[in-house]
Amino acid sequence: MNATLLTGMNEHLKLEFKASHEYRAMSVWLAANDLPGFSKWMAQQSADELLHAQKFIDHMVERDQAVQLPAVAQPPASWESAEALCRHVLENEQAVTASINELYAMAEQAKDRPAIVLLQWFVNEQMEEEAAARAILGRIRLGGSGVGLLMIDQELATNSMPGMPAEPGAAGA
Ligand code: FEO
Repeated sequence: MNATLLTGMNEHLKLEFKASHEYRAMSVWLAANDLPGFSKWMAQQSADELLHAQKFIDHMVERDQAVQLPAVAQPPASWESAEALCRHVLENEQAVTASINELYAMAEQAKDRPAIVLLQWFVNEQMEEEAAARAILGRIRLGGSGVGLLMIDQELATNSMPGMPAEPGAAGA
């Protein structure tokens, strides 16, 4: 594999592990703040991020490339509000999307077809993940305090939020 692309993939692992760790911390904070539906959603996102990291690891291992696992920083333990938390999720996802796009450009430059195929999956996944974060953020902005927030929590608990991809994170399985 092209050295630039390999370095880029190993760098990208940092974002996936960081997202997983942060989403797990968010899930804990949400559960402690009586939002079990949000908490369940974030726990699923955390698990999905580990699957994403594993997809890159598998790809490098199968191609006999050196994997460098990153150190993962301690995540925040609390957020100002559910809305602030969801804004953070969307920003995370946008950063991951930007990194995937860079990797895609590197893979094209190197004419690395296996990497392009892998990254195409991630292009679709990122579109879905950003859409889900935007859908939740939009619902919170419309009615997200008091009873409105409880309603959204219920929608997340039952996977029935309008505007969400059918099964959040299902493409990560
Ligand atoms: Fe693996 Fe949510 O990006």
